[in-house]
Amino acid sequence: MTDDRLIVALDVPNAHAGLELATRLGDAVNFYKIGLGMLTTGGLALANELKQEQGKRIFLDMKLFDISATVEKAVRGLAQFDLDFLTVHGDPHVVKAAKEGAAGSNMKILGVTILTSLDRADLDACLIQQGDVQELVVTRAARAMEAGADGVIASPQEAALIRALPEAKGKLIVTPGVRPAGAALGDQKRVATPHSAIKDGANHIVVGRPVWQADSPGQAARDIIASLP
Ligand code: C5P
Repeated sequence: MTDDRLIVALDVPNAHAGLELATRLGDAVNFYKIGLGMLTTGGLALANELKQEQGKRIFLDMKLFDISATVEKAVRGLAQFDLDFLTVHGDPHVVKAAKEGAAGSNMKILGVTILTSLDRADLDACLIQQGDVQELVVTRAARAMEAGADGVIASPQEAALIRALPEAKGKLIVTPGVRPAGAALGDQKRVATPHSAIKDGANHIVVGRPVWQADSPGQAARDIIASLP
């Protein structure tokens, strides 16, 4: 049986390949993430097709960041696509503007805290304030949710810390960087199993390669779902 807690990242080369994969996965998966990389190769059309024709839920991972007026306008436009989740950077002015833009729709706004690809040296180069990266992530998550975000994207390492925040009550935590036991890590360094991510307070896990690179993607998705608490 399918389970909306599993979101499969359609990180394939174009919308055509995305549709093929989703068709192959069929009923095994009900929720898909479409990223920025696919936007220029038909990502929005794919989102529409999966939503309208196949009744799937869609997470558009765009990580928007701009002045408030521009974010609001962009999000208002995207809200017409009947998407389920949209990411923006978790800066309070961006989150507030995105929530304005999403008003009247069911689209949830998720804040990105600090990209997991950035370490302290990168943050220094960006003139981001001193301090432990994990503490900054948790504080940024609190600020994003205070500003009205419906939830945040968090690595499995931070999910439990964020879930414990008073600001996180009733909010969504969506966790990439998840690997079933024994699966190849790829470029992911700090991973957790789907089971422990959900146990630590994630509402949804995002999994890409362990599903779409599997010999049987449907079986891989079903195995992940079966492993959830
Ligand atoms: O293939 P894999 O399971 O690593 O894919 C994870 C997905 O989640 C990718 O689309 C990746 O861009 C995204 N993601 C991530 N780590 C983050 C934010 C997003 O892996 N911190």
